[in-house]
Amino acid sequence: MIKQAIIPLAGLGTRMLPLTSVMPKELMPINGKPNLQYILDECIDAGVKKFIFIISKKKLSIKKYFFNDNFYKKILKKKKDKRLFEEYKKIKRYQKMIKFVYQNKPKGTGDAVLKCQKFIKGKHFLMLLPDDLIIRNNCSKEMIRLHKKTNGSIIATKRVERKTVSRWGILSVKNKKRNYFQIKDVIEKPSIKKAPSNFAIIGRYILPTNIFVEIKKLKPGQGGEIHITDAIRSLIKKKHQFYGNIFKGKYLDCGTLNGYINSGIQISKVK
Ligand code: G1P
Repeated sequence: MIKQAIIPLAGLGTRMLPLTSVMPKELMPINGKPNLQYILDECIDAGVKKFIFIISKKKLSIKKYFFNDNFYKKILKKKKDKRLFEEYKKIKRYQKMIKFVYQNKPKGTGDAVLKCQKFIKGKHFLMLLPDDLIIRNNCSKEMIRLHKKTNGSIIATKRVERKTVSRWGILSVKNKKRNYFQIKDVIEKPSIKKAPSNFAIIGRYILPTNIFVEIKKLKPGQGGEIHITDAIRSLIKKKHQFYGNIFKGKYLDCGTLNGYINSGIQISKVK
């Protein structure tokens, strides 16, 4: 059973400056709700019970958002506001599930995942990148289902335009079925020439705990960072089974300003 989810939140958010100079991008509201809360709600709906947030000293406002009890208590004492009370109840529920670890230097997703090692129980865990929202169909739920069916590790994927492959981790495909396939290889941000397909990694992973050993062996890769993609690659070479889950929902890229603006428009159409 997948009960734990890791969420790397220590990134600098440079693609969203100047907004991110005062506010973490993960707290920026999309249709009235912080980006990060969509990710939490997706996981909780999929049965996740515990979250590990990887933050940095520069992003303590994420902690404050979830642990600002005195502030709520004071206001709720003075003002019997039903809406605020409901929101506070939600926050209290999240609060019980979240643990924080720190990554003060942005050394990549692999490094962020490694910081969580001592807190992970069980053989597999979920990892989600909060830039990537998936709406209309719960992608984490689909992936947990595929994990149960295959007993392997899972990566969310969708086809992207060929000319954009160097923006993503790209999967090499084996035995494609209707909505999933076995992953033969994976490469972080390849050139169009080197890309083995146009199936891109979208930010949802079910990873095995033996990934930690592989991360420790890695040297900095693409862009000088420790990439989770490279650790996955090592595991695949050692015959660990990874599957690409071609998810049904709609993907929204919230990591750029244009994508963020569009996400608000798309999400407001759903409800
Ligand atoms: C990260 C991953 C990449 C993946 C992408 C999805 O890249 O390294 O493999 O395709 O997320 O959003 P980043 O967006 O951090 O550059």
